[in-house]
Amino acid sequence: MEYQWYPGHMSKAKREIKDSLKLVDVIIELIDARIPYSSKNPDIDELAANKPRVLLLNKADMADDKRTAEFKEYYEKKGYFVLVTNARNGNLKPVMNVVREACKEKIERDKARGMINRPIRAMILGIPNVGKSTFINSYAKKACTKTGDKPGVTTGKQWIRLSKELELLDTPGILWPKFEDKAVGLHIAMIGSINENLLDSNELALKLLEFLVKEYPGAVNARYGVEEKEDSLQLLYDICFKKACMKKGGEPDTDRMAFTVTDDFRGGRFGKISLEKVSDYIKRED
Ligand code: G4P
Repeated sequence: MEYQWYPGHMSKAKREIKDSLKLVDVIIELIDARIPYSSKNPDIDELAANKPRVLLLNKADMADDKRTAEFKEYYEKKGYFVLVTNARNGNLKPVMNVVREACKEKIERDKARGMINRPIRAMILGIPNVGKSTFINSYAKKACTKTGDKPGVTTGKQWIRLSKELELLDTPGILWPKFEDKAVGLHIAMIGSINENLLDSNELALKLLEFLVKEYPGAVNARYGVEEKEDSLQLLYDICFKKACMKKGGEPDTDRMAFTVTDDFRGGRFGKISLEKVSDYIKRED
C-alpha cells in the first residue's frame, strides 16, 4: 500500500504552529480515541517543549471504553493531563478543570506577580479530522465572544473567549500523522481520516474484517449474520451471499460489500471499537 506524504504543507504548518505556540500557556491536543497512538503526532513533542499539555481522547463515544481508559492512564503516567471527550456534546466544565490543573504553576506565578484573573490561553492541535473544529465550535457556541486582535502581542490572531478564564486561538494547528509508519497509515485509513482513494478499499475492508474477527469476536456475526472465520476474503464472499450483494451476472459484488463494511465500521455500526490498545505500543514508544 502506498501513502501520500506532504512535506511541503508539513513544514509550513509546523512553522506556523511554532509561532503561535509562543502566544499560549497550554496546548490542547486532540487525538482519536479509536487510534490514540496513530493519531498522536510526535512533532508536537518537539514543537511544544515545556508547555503544559492537555490531551483529549476524542470521539470516545465510538471507542472501546476499556481501551480508552488504559490509554488515559498510560498518557497520564507520561505527564499529560488527559480527558476523555465527545466533542459533539461539549461540556466545558471538565475541560476547564483539566486546563486549570495543567496551568496550576502559571496561575500561581500570575498571582505572585499580582496578575489576577488573567485568562489562560490555549491552542488546539491535532491531525486532520480528529474533531478540532467541532471542539472549538461546540465550546464557542456556548460562550463565544471573539476577543479580536490584541495589538502588539497577538497581531493577526483571533482569540475566542470561552469563559473569563480561558481563551482559545480560533484556528487550530493541523499536523500530519506519521504516514511513513505503515501501521499508522492503515489505521488512519480505517477510520476514514485520509482520502480513501489512497488505499485499495477491498484490501482495507479485508484487513478490517480480519481485525474484527480476531479482536472483537461476535461483532461481524452480529452485524451480518454470518459465521466468522479467519479467511477474510471468504468471509467477505459469505457476507455478499448473505446480504444478496451480487453483480448482474450472479457473482458476489465484493467491491460494493467492501465499501459497506468500511462504512459500517466508520459509522460505529459494529459497536464501540478501538483499533489500538496500550499493550501494542508500550515497547515501541518507550
Ligand atoms: P478537524 O477540525 O480536526 O479536521 O475535525 P472536525 O471537527 O471537522 O470533525 C471531523 C468529523 O468528526 C465531523 O464529522 C465531526 O462531527 C466528527 N466528530 C468530531 N468530534 C466527534 C466526537 O467526539 N464523536 C463523534 N462521533 N464524532 C465527532 P463529519 O461527518 O465530517 O461532519 P458532521 O457529521 O458533523 O456533519
